[in-house]
Amino acid sequence: MYQSRIIGLGHYVPENIVTNDELSKLMDTNDAWIQERTGIKERRWVKPGSGETTSTMGTEAAKIAIERAGIDKDEIDFIIFATLSPDYYFPGPGVMVQEALDIKTIGALDVRNQCSGFLYALSVADQFIKTGMYKKILVIGSELHSRGLDKTTRGRGVSVIFGDGAGAVVLSRSEDAKKGILSTHLHSQGEHAKELSLVAPGMGKRWVSDILRENDPNDESYFPYMNGQFVFKNAIVRFVEVINEGLQKNNLTKEDINLLIPHQANLRISQFVQHKFGLRDDQVYNNIVRYGNTTAASIPIALTEAWQEGKIKEGNLVVLAAFGSGFTWGSAIIRW
Ligand code: ACO
Repeated sequence: MYQSRIIGLGHYVPENIVTNDELSKLMDTNDAWIQERTGIKERRWVKPGSGETTSTMGTEAAKIAIERAGIDKDEIDFIIFATLSPDYYFPGPGVMVQEALDIKTIGALDVRNQCSGFLYALSVADQFIKTGMYKKILVIGSELHSRGLDKTTRGRGVSVIFGDGAGAVVLSRSEDAKKGILSTHLHSQGEHAKELSLVAPGMGKRWVSDILRENDPNDESYFPYMNGQFVFKNAIVRFVEVINEGLQKNNLTKEDINLLIPHQANLRISQFVQHKFGLRDDQVYNNIVRYGNTTAASIPIALTEAWQEGKIKEGNLVVLAAFGSGFTWGSAIIRW
């Protein structure tokens, strides 16, 4: 068995900053409510007409990760792309990155696990590398939420939370058994699928021809639905569980954690988890204040920023954890 290590990281966020005060011009909300409940001050939303999409943002993040890895793009053996906001219903954005980067005809896999998407993608990449099938895998998480949100008062419980952006890593085979991804842990509980979901244009209940004929501007099934308090309650339990699972698997304890990077769902969730593990502020990386919840992109953006800021050093124990729609949740224990 081989070991896999992250050898390059990159992130990309659109230039356009949208503050809470700007949102209060679109809907009945205010800066105090949003900050108090979520910790968010601003988020990035692509500018109309900018041409940016989930795949273009993912491509930009990937270019930076490849450059920092110090490799040629043609050394990449495989692409894994996690998103809930693909450019097309199909094909997924993995192939679009393959084309945009002009990488030879390697495989491209799309992962649909929402807030846990990046961890699922990282775990799949880790298995491919550990078994020796591939040597270098590009793993991307990218989201363009802003085009799909209900920006009226009706949608305020959801739309104020989400932001656009992308992050990417290059995962590489390594011979050093003591460093790299020590383990990943993935879970799901489909009985709660509806509690955080976007139903349309799914084929589950309606015919596309009927949807088109109805052409109903009040059709809410095209907007994300979230049972916020229920998600919150489940998230805090699962985050703690899955981090503990990862630590136990590696005979580690919370005292061994150098940096926890939780999926940026809500600052209150991150703070709950931080206190549960007795971690100091400098042991938990949060940037939801500036970006909102960027779903599959949130962990790779936060990981890249933490690394850029010198918060991750050789030999550190870095713990990644996520919870989200599905419900799905997971963790990754990394010796840097
Ligand atoms: N601005 C002002 N008021 C609002 C807003 C808003 N943006 N949104 C909702 N309200 C109102 C509601 O209408 C309600 O009013 P009412 O009491 O008159 O009926 C009141 O505020 C309270 O609404 P709740 O939904 O009960 O508010 P809550 O305290 O649960 O906070 C929130 C909502 C922030 C979504 C919270 O439930 C939460 O964080 N849940 C966790 C879910 C999460 O983190 N999701 C992130 C994405 S999923 C993921 O990544 C896991």
